Amino acid sequence: MEIKAEEYTKIIPPPPVVLVSTLHGNVKNLAPFGMNMPVSFHPPLYAVGVAGSRDTYRNVTETGEFVVAVPGPELLEAINITAESFPGEVSEFEKAGLTPVESAMVRPFGVKECQSNFECKLEWVKQAGDHYVVVGRVVAARVDDRIYTEDMSRLMIDPVYHVASRKAEYAGKGRPLDQRA
Ligand SMILES: Cc1cc2nc3c(=O)[nH]c(=O)nc-3n(C[C@H](O)[C@H](O)[C@H](O)COP(=O)(O)O)c2cc1C
Repeated sequence: MEIKAEEYTKIIPPPPVVLVSTLHGNVKNLAPFGMNMPVSFHPPLYAVGVAGSRDTYRNVTETGEFVVAVPGPELLEAINITAESFPGEVSEFEKAGLTPVESAMVRPFGVKECQSNFECKLEWVKQAGDHYVVVGRVVAARVDDRIYTEDMSRLMIDPVYHVASRKAEYAGKGRPLDQRA
């Protein structure tokens, strides 16, 4: 059957949701993003599609730094909370009960409860329709020790998929660590 061109995202597998951590002054901002993907190995580059209205967009373009954190299905509720709009001085880390951890190479914080975190320095931004493509160079990365294995890490990561724009519609496999891969 034919569908509207604008509905094309409905016919590709859902991307994993990542949390993007930024700073506005000393306020620790955190928000979920479904539009995200690796775009280069050398140098290591990561792209996120960010609407211009997001605090994340302002913070990344102002500070040039962000951290990408990969949440598992046990963080669904926390993810939903970080997606809410709070006043600028409120940290989504606190609202969602997530623990900020200091980064090695950038000022924004990682998320302790996430399976992996990688730190990015802004490489470039370009408008793409109703979003901006924000490309960051990955300058440091870390992963939960229990997940890392030389060739299997990608299968050990348990994703939360961005199924639809409505908040509750996520899916994840929710596998305990010892049943992964
Ligand atoms: C699962 C999920 C995925 C989302 N993906 C994106 C995205 O890829 N790009 C975007 O601009 N907003 C996305 N949003 C919306 C933002 O997360 C939301 O507007 C958030 O409040 C923005 O926070 P900020 O203003 O602190 O950046 C998504 C929301 C959810 C719940």
